[in-house]
Amino acid sequence: MSAAPFSERVPAYLARLTAALNVWLPAATQYPPRLHQAMRYAAEGGKRLRPLLIYATGEALGVAPRALDPAAAAVELMHAYSLVHDDLPAMDNDDLRRGRPTCHKQFDEATAILTGDALQTLAFLVLARDSESGLDLRQRLKLIEVLAEAAGSRGMAGGQAIDLESTGQRLTLAELEAMHIHKTGALIRASVLMACYAGAPLDSAHLAALDRYGKCLGLAFQIQDDILDEEGTTDQLGKRRGQDRSRNKPTYPSVMGLPVARIRAQELFEQARLALQSFDGRSAPLIWLADHIQGRNR
Ligand code: IPE
Ligand code: IPE
Ligand code: MG
Ligand code: MG
Ligand code: MG
Repeated sequence: MSAAPFSERVPAYLARLTAALNVWLPAATQYPPRLHQAMRYAAEGGKRLRPLLIYATGEALGVAPRALDPAAAAVELMHAYSLVHDDLPAMDNDDLRRGRPTCHKQFDEATAILTGDALQTLAFLVLARDSESGLDLRQRLKLIEVLAEAAGSRGMAGGQAIDLESTGQRLTLAELEAMHIHKTGALIRASVLMACYAGAPLDSAHLAALDRYGKCLGLAFQIQDDILDEEGTTDQLGKRRGQDRSRNKPTYPSVMGLPVARIRAQELFEQARLALQSFDGRSAPLIWLADHIQGRNR
């Protein structure tokens, strides 16, 4: 690990990711241009926290950045797809995302559906095809497996199904937590695991510790998203505030109240940091990222 703090390398990591996405996303002029424009539109403007989590985990484990690039691009493409579909009229029906019209508003609903489909399959193409990362076939297969599991019906898509079924319902805390762990936690946890599998084989205790870090961070992230929906402003968030309450979504603040939600998020961030104890100084990038996410206001 370099002596300089991780934060100093964040711009370089974000530049790597942008370059990788730029290579993998078809040019906006490529046939059929409307779909390719929409894919590029949907991949722009995010905070890119999941790729940063991959680079931070990779640093903690001494994995070369070029071995992390495919996972970083793939997880961001998957995440972008999840947001395009999440915003559709049949789901959250939102018109603002990252300070701009949502994909189906900027283009049209059918294009947004196809954009999500194409971003998702591109994520797997990146993992399968990338030839400059030095990943061997076994590693690529593992990355594909981890991402597929996290994005599918037992992960993000399943969580989104629970979210839709739960609208207007009263959930217990356990049900709410299960929904959050699936719809948002799964991809965040997978980001950490993909970085682990992009490196040399890791012993089970360290793998379990990083998995715990990813799980705690993932749940904390969605609780925070729920809190920001109540406390943030539309300008700051780049998405309309108060949508959860107006759509009658069960959220941490609606089920537990805002003060308890804040305490639960804090506890989880603390548990995430505690999970890293056996890494000593090597955990600095992951501690920085947990602090950075905890301090976010958008
Ligand atoms: C928003 O995720 C949706 C959730 C899973 C809570 P982010 O807050 O990471 O969204 P972007 O990518 O920065 O826009
Ligand atoms: C989104 O949760 C989770 C996804 C899998 C996309 P939300 O519906 O709360 O995300 P935002 O608030 O629209 O970004
Ligand atoms: Mg949603
Ligand atoms: Mg939404
Ligand atoms: Mg939300």
